[in-house]
Amino acid sequence: METIVSGMRPTGHLHLGNYFGALTNFIKMQQNYDCYFFVADYHMLTTHPNPADLQDNVRIILSEYLASGLDPEKATIYVQSMVPEVAELYMYLNMITYVGELERTSAFKEKVRQNPNNVNAGLLTYPTLMAADIILRKATKVPVGKDQQQHLEMTRDIAERFNKLYKTDYFPLPQAFNFDGDLVKIPSLDGNGKMSKSYGEKATVYLTDEGNVLKKKIMSAKTDEGPQSPNSPKSVEIENLFSLMKLVSKPEIIQQFEDSYADCSIRYGDMKKQLLADMDSFLQPIRERIKEIYSDEAYLNKVIAIGTEKARQSAKKTIKEVREIIGFRV
Ligand code: TYM
Repeated sequence: METIVSGMRPTGHLHLGNYFGALTNFIKMQQNYDCYFFVADYHMLTTHPNPADLQDNVRIILSEYLASGLDPEKATIYVQSMVPEVAELYMYLNMITYVGELERTSAFKEKVRQNPNNVNAGLLTYPTLMAADIILRKATKVPVGKDQQQHLEMTRDIAERFNKLYKTDYFPLPQAFNFDGDLVKIPSLDGNGKMSKSYGEKATVYLTDEGNVLKKKIMSAKTDEGPQSPNSPKSVEIENLFSLMKLVSKPEIIQQFEDSYADCSIRYGDMKKQLLADMDSFLQPIRERIKEIYSDEAYLNKVIAIGTEKARQSAKKTIKEVREIIGFRV
């Protein structure tokens, strides 16, 4: 059976980008693949979170994974830092990863721009740690959003380089993957690129958003002055609004707004109200399950214990074999 692996950083609540870009894939894939889904808490150390926040955020992500439909009976769900074999493989891979290629990564350049006072070595080697997560599982497919494509290309390069150096075909070359076709990018509400906590909280919808918070975000989504002539092309802002609607609204509703856009009778206020109602109905059951699971500490502890056990078993086997390939045989 093919193995897949993916993870998310515990930065707070998951947003629609995480959900529709990756999590929905995890849920579809857990039926037919040997799946490993984790919380990437080692990765978070690049931003120096305080210990209590880190621990709480790990539990939030786990609750949100489970509330969205990840099944610990089908998939191995674990916390990265509880599998120290990841760190060992990360160290080996750093020996075959070049500083130049790490410096050229667009995510790294972006982080340097955002945070010039914290350009630590962990930030630079972030892609090596990702590669370790993935190839430790000998995974072939990695369900992620489009923003992670470059990191996956680096993982392939690193795995290939390991194989060449040690004249082996030990690691498969993994691929970024979307169950339904192309990798996706969920837009933000302000017309500015992808939905992302670091680009703007106000334009990011979290799975737990409700009431006035949700209303304010959706009703203040950016629009334009309206279509000036029949069948005119849409601006980025309006394209984004339609993209978000497609995630949660019925096809006939979307068609109705497509038609009114085409004949210039559209009222963006009505469209946003509709999007708000559909988003709220979509999120409501997920929100409730999140609250339930998050407050059930015993259940979360059980999930973590089972996941750690399963995740370490296969990790230990890989590390043992990698050490032999590298030449640590005494
Ligand atoms: P992170 O925590 O930034 O995001 C988690 C997942 O959500 C996807 N995503 C999006 N997809 C579409 N549109 C968006 N607006 C959007 N925003 C986020 C991301 O593509 C990702 O799949 N480095 C990773 C975590 C990681 C990982 C791994 C992933 C660590 N090791 C190994 C896969 C395999 C990250 O920071 O994702």
